[in-house]
Amino acid sequence: MEFSTKGGNPDKQRAGCVVVGVFEGGKLSEAAQALDAASGGYVASVLGRGDLEGRAGAALLLHKVPKVSAERVLLVSLGKEKDFHEGAYRAALAGAVKALRATGAADALLCMADLPLKRRDAAWKAEQAVLAISDGLYRFDRMKSKPANARSPLERVSVHVANRRDAAEVDRAVARAKAIAEGVSFAKDLGNLPGNVCTPTYLGEQAEALGKECGLKVQVLGRNQIEKLGMGAFLAVAQGSREPPRFIVMERMAGRKGDRPVALVGKGITFDTGGISIKPAAEMDEMKFDMCGAASVFGTMKAISRMDLPLNVVGIVPTTENMPGGNAIKPGDIVKTMSGQTVEILNTDAEGRLILCDALTYAGKYKPAAVVDIATLTGAMVIALGHVATGVFANSDPLARELVQAGEGSWDRAWHLPMWDDYQEQLKSNFADFPNIGTRAGGSITAACFLSRFTKSYPWAHLDIAGTAWKSGAEKGATGRPVALLTHFLARRAAAA
Ligand code: BES
Ligand code: MN
Ligand code: ZN
Repeated sequence: MEFSTKGGNPDKQRAGCVVVGVFEGGKLSEAAQALDAASGGYVASVLGRGDLEGRAGAALLLHKVPKVSAERVLLVSLGKEKDFHEGAYRAALAGAVKALRATGAADALLCMADLPLKRRDAAWKAEQAVLAISDGLYRFDRMKSKPANARSPLERVSVHVANRRDAAEVDRAVARAKAIAEGVSFAKDLGNLPGNVCTPTYLGEQAEALGKECGLKVQVLGRNQIEKLGMGAFLAVAQGSREPPRFIVMERMAGRKGDRPVALVGKGITFDTGGISIKPAAEMDEMKFDMCGAASVFGTMKAISRMDLPLNVVGIVPTTENMPGGNAIKPGDIVKTMSGQTVEILNTDAEGRLILCDALTYAGKYKPAAVVDIATLTGAMVIALGHVATGVFANSDPLARELVQAGEGSWDRAWHLPMWDDYQEQLKSNFADFPNIGTRAGGSITAACFLSRFTKSYPWAHLDIAGTAWKSGAEKGATGRPVALLTHFLARRAAAA
């Protein structure tokens, strides 16, 4: 998909389709007014017949609108004008893409970055438009013997810029959004691939390929090297699987020489059966998404490379399956982590924290400016925040704030939860330094507390994406979150450096 920006009168643009917004009750946006004026009131007269639903995202396609150069006009409902916030804007964009897909248009002019949205500038609206289009056109059909639906012929989208003063800013936003969209698609692909294809070995190969493509320094360590590092907890999870584990490190040192890097650590469980503490059968297929933290690290490395972000960043991915078997860990087993601390494994299904703790210890060797881990860590996270916000936990309030703000800026939202010492009380073992689980109460927080015992030497945050990394139901699939949040976070850091 090609994205660009364009000024000028919407009615004079040659395009397969021009997309304009209309509020509930028929109030036309500026671009819609321009088409209406050119066509001698045609647009308003069509709307008067009541064919466009009021809810944000509803769409009505018009052909051969008099005196309009575009072949088609797509009217998109924006909902009630007084309720026109980010959510309605995003719904309108999603509706527009869905309708566009169904047309034969090869190129479109999208007049939505100039809509009156409070608190958001044209650049923000343009970025969201590009992300929404890319999201709406994404299809994962590479595992089908034939593609299910014919591909949409849409190839080029221009974002209309009403005010010439915004042009440069919107250009930059579109370029940034293209980079983020590529990272998001990459993360979705990795997440959507089944566990028998997307193995730890496969992720290692993807890292090598990404390294070549983006000029990253990549290391992929196998079992022997992981043993030498003393990663007893990571290896304990891996011992139950026939698939060999991988420890992946991707360095992109594009910042100032000697500047402390930001490390991103992604959970890469390519399939989580639960191990001997096995999971129920229903929906277990969704545990192929248990590597979406890792996928977001891959996607973010890709996005920041495309943007040429001047920042030192290290991506770290411990990856293995979590399987039951004759050699698998058992409840009660005690393992020694790379940090030297011992852990009693009371539940083999709390495996994410076991692979992350060693990766977090490893991250310390970079003397990082900050470490952010990203993990589909707890089912309790879905209960707490649903599928809307990613959970943020941190040993540094300023870092948590940075991440929440990056989520707000990218509309890939996150929410800060407490990690007070009171919660640490749950992690007590009679036999080892501590267990890998607490009680059911506050399960996401105690998981974060477990990780905090490995992150004492640097500012650290943990993103629990169990509720946000994929969708269930009819639209089952990876979302590519939180690539947008992470990319914004790093971009802000680069701008401040
Ligand atoms: N990968 C799961 C977390 C998960 C569960 C994500 C459901 C999304 C949906 C993780 O490895 C896990 O199994 N966590 C356990 C922890 C428990 C044993 C303390 C959980 O949440 O049930
Ligand atoms: Mn598990
Ligand atoms: Zn898991």
